[in-house]
Amino acid sequence: MSSCMQHPPALWTPASWRHKPAAQLPDYQDPAALAEVEERLAHSLPLVFAGEIDTLRQHLAEVTAGRAFLLQGGDCAESFADFNDRTITDTFQVLLQMAVVLTFAAACPVVKVGRMAGQFAKPRSAPTETRNGVCLPSYRGDIVNNLDFSPEARRPDPRRQLRAYAQSAATLNLLRALAQGGFADLHRVQQWNLDFLRANPQGTRYRDLADRINETLAFMRACGLDAVTDPQVRQVQIYTSHEALLLGYEQALTRREPTTGAWYAGSAHLLWIGERTRQLDGAHIEFIRGIANPIGLKLGPTADPDTLLPLIDALNPDNQPGRLTLIARMGADHIETALPPLIRAVQREGRQLIWSCDPMHGNTIESTSGYKTRPFSRILDEVRHFFAIHRAEGSYPGGMHFELTGQDVTECLGGAQAITEQGLADRYHTQCDPRLNASQSLELAFLIAETLKDCRQQAATQDEYA
Ligand code: PEP
Ligand code: CO
Repeated sequence: MSSCMQHPPALWTPASWRHKPAAQLPDYQDPAALAEVEERLAHSLPLVFAGEIDTLRQHLAEVTAGRAFLLQGGDCAESFADFNDRTITDTFQVLLQMAVVLTFAAACPVVKVGRMAGQFAKPRSAPTETRNGVCLPSYRGDIVNNLDFSPEARRPDPRRQLRAYAQSAATLNLLRALAQGGFADLHRVQQWNLDFLRANPQGTRYRDLADRINETLAFMRACGLDAVTDPQVRQVQIYTSHEALLLGYEQALTRREPTTGAWYAGSAHLLWIGERTRQLDGAHIEFIRGIANPIGLKLGPTADPDTLLPLIDALNPDNQPGRLTLIARMGADHIETALPPLIRAVQREGRQLIWSCDPMHGNTIESTSGYKTRPFSRILDEVRHFFAIHRAEGSYPGGMHFELTGQDVTECLGGAQAITEQGLADRYHTQCDPRLNASQSLELAFLIAETLKDCRQQAATQDEYA
C-alpha cells in the first residue's frame, strides 16, 4: 500500500512558482551568482529521502486520527555563528525530554519534528530597517544576509545558501547520530536532564518522572520482556522541518522519485508556509502544493473559513491524512474568536488534517527595556485556550509548535524561574524571535501532558459509550 501522491498536480513543476507573485523573497543584485548557486545546489545530494518522508506522513496520519501527538520545536532562526555540537545536542535533548514527558504522562506516542537543520530564512514585517536615518535591507536570516547593520552585511548574498546547506547537512548528521547511536536510549532518560535544570523545580519534576520510567523498564526486564532491547527503546526518530520561504533554494533541492514520479523537497522532511506567504495565488502556495512531503500552514488571527477552505483544497486535494497540519498562531487574546470558526468549517467539510498550536508568534511584545519578548503567561493562556476550544468543538488538538532552545537563555518573561524585564538582558541571545529556555519548555510539556491525558481519556470514554 502506498499513500504517497502518485502524480504531481496538473501543470505543476518545481519551477512553476516562478510565474506567480512572490512575497518575502530577497532582492539579489547579481542574478548570475544566484543562478550559479542554484545550479550547484541542484547537483548536490538531498538531505532527506523519500522513504523517510513517507514514514513521517504515516506517523502524521496517526496524529490526524487522534492516536498520536505532534511535537515540533527548535530555533526561530538557526545561525552560522551559533553553530556547534553543544547547541544542537542541548536542543535535541530538550525535545527528547518534552517528548518523554508527553509519552509517559499522557500515554500518547509523540512524533518529534525539529525546527532544525535548515531553519534559516526569515520573513520580515518590513523590507527595510532604518537606524539613525540610515536605511538598509532587513535581516532575512543567515541564509540570505548578515544581522550586522552595515550595507555590506545586509546585502543579500546567494553564496550563503551553500553554507546553510552544508550546515544543515552537518546538523542532520549529528541529529541522526544522537537519535540512533545510543544518546536517545530510554535507559539514559535520567541523564537527559540538563545540568542547569537539576536544581530547578522543573528539573526535579522531570527527575521524578524519569525515576518512574526507569522502574518501568526494570520491571519489564524482570518479567523477561525483551521489549527493552527493542529499537523503540534504544533509538528515537527525529524529523526535520523549516519554513519553505526561499523558494529558489527549495526548488534546487527538490527531486523526483523515479518509481512513483512524485516530487519530494529534499531540504527537510516537513516544510511549512508562513503567515505572510500563504496567498492562494502566490508563489509559496504554488511551490508547496506540488511536493509530496507533509506540509504545514501557519494561520494568524485574520484567517477565516473563506480563505482557509480554498487553501486546503489546493494543498490537500485528495484529503489525505498526514499531509496537512494547520498551525494556529492566533495570540492568547484572539484564539477564542478566531479558531472556532475555522475548526467548524473544517469539520463541516470533512477535511482530514492536524490542528497544531504555535503559542509563540501571536504573543510577541516589546518589553519596557526594548527587548522583543513573550510573556510565558500569555503562551500558557494560548495553550490552555487551544485545548479548551478543541474540547468544546469535539476536535482533536493534535500538536504543538514551539520556538525553544536547550540553552539557559532569558528571552521569554516569567515561568517558574520568573524571568523579569531586567533579567531579559542577562542571556538574551536570539538572532530573531525570543525562545523558551529548557526550563520553560519542560514546564509547558508537563502542562500539556496533563491536559492531553484528560482530553484523551474523555475521548475514550465517549467512544466507549457511543
Ligand atoms: C516563524 O515560525 O518563525 C514565523 C515567522 O512564523 P509566522 O509565519 O507564523 O509568523
Ligand atoms: Co519566529
